[in-house]
Amino acid sequence: MIVPRLIERKRDGGRLEPAEIRELIQGYTAGEVPDYQMASLLMAIYFKGLDRPEMNVLMEAMLESGEKLDFSRLPLQRVDKHSTGGVGDKTSLILAPLIASLNVAVPMMSGRGLGHTGGTLDKLESIPGFRTRLSLAETERQVAKIGCAMIGQTDEIVPADRRLYALRDATATVEVIPLIAASIMSKKISESLTGLVLDIKRGSGSFLPRLEDELELARAMIDLGANHSCPVVALLTAMDRPLGEACGNALEIIEAVDVLKGSGPADLIEVTMALGAEMLVLAEITSTREDARAMMDDAIASGRALTKFEEIVKAQGGDARVVRNPTLLAKAPHCANFEAKRGGVIQSVEPRAVGYGVIRLGGGRTTMEETVDHAVGFVIKAKPGQRVEKGQPLATIHARTADGIEIGRSALDEAIRIGDESVSLLPLVSHRVTARGVEVLSVSA
Ligand code: URA
Repeated sequence: MIVPRLIERKRDGGRLEPAEIRELIQGYTAGEVPDYQMASLLMAIYFKGLDRPEMNVLMEAMLESGEKLDFSRLPLQRVDKHSTGGVGDKTSLILAPLIASLNVAVPMMSGRGLGHTGGTLDKLESIPGFRTRLSLAETERQVAKIGCAMIGQTDEIVPADRRLYALRDATATVEVIPLIAASIMSKKISESLTGLVLDIKRGSGSFLPRLEDELELARAMIDLGANHSCPVVALLTAMDRPLGEACGNALEIIEAVDVLKGSGPADLIEVTMALGAEMLVLAEITSTREDARAMMDDAIASGRALTKFEEIVKAQGGDARVVRNPTLLAKAPHCANFEAKRGGVIQSVEPRAVGYGVIRLGGGRTTMEETVDHAVGFVIKAKPGQRVEKGQPLATIHARTADGIEIGRSALDEAIRIGDESVSLLPLVSHRVTARGVEVLSVSA
């Protein structure tokens, strides 16, 4: 294989043959194809795309670079949920225990913060002792025993994606629909799922802010799933404002636990329940989303979902006492209110500015080597469209130092705009995409 010829062909709008894609991915994973050639090819793909057969072969070649979880002896359906990334999005922390408490296995593989978005693994690691690096064998044992494991990608699972993803991140080639679809689906198919629910974020805080791109990504992942006996349902959900109130690792654990205890912000509950209902219907626990909703309400009211979270935390080495007593989580030494500078209507709470604000407080990374301060972040009560008075508290800043409070203030100054206009927002859950097509669920918030 002569890699420059492949780069040239893709650059000029040609197709890559299946055998070429397989050889390329094998060679790259083995360290035989250098990063500079792969980076050039990725950039050519960024501009010229991949067609569906090319994307399918790429996904399979990536999948074949590693091992798959083996659940052949598990008598349960296995369903996961994956989000394309948001700010304040802690739905995974709620759904994994909630759905596992309803007799569905949830082998949940999540990521770390990426760009301005938060990552489930960083949030879980704010629980003292919690291990997210489980081996495949440990994951299989834990799922068989308690129905759930919340893990990160390891060297055993899709190593090709690990290398490719880091290279894409470093070469501005992340936002390419077939590459995103192949990357996510290779990891999901390696979990041997019987169903997958995708949460595709819409709006200014998402990676793909155009509706047609979001629908295209949904269709691409549905096709990849269908080719591997993994039915996929995608919901398009709003990320033109943060989801819920808490943004920051330990703060988000507290809010997720609130929902598992039966309280928590209404927007977070609505999105979580919509995703959870799809998971339960895919797992054939019930045939209607209304029934599924009632089952989830019951799992929360009875305390079963919270108990399942405790079991997961304990099984993965974490201090399970934090589930009943979240004050045991790391607390930021400095805390201050952020007040409205004028009266009016909140025009926006910009997720990117909030997400980058969390990173500047130390709650996220700018390089993979950085450690994360789990305690810092924001609790933002203000929502776009809300009328506020001058001086009204809109948010709380949680910072490591007094300077951090000022950093937090400047991030919120940028994120929260107050004006006099009425505001139109994206619906929390707007579209449902399945192999049968696109259903518009709601056109206004
Ligand atoms: N998440 C992934 O796992 N891969 C991508 O390419 C983008 C988001």
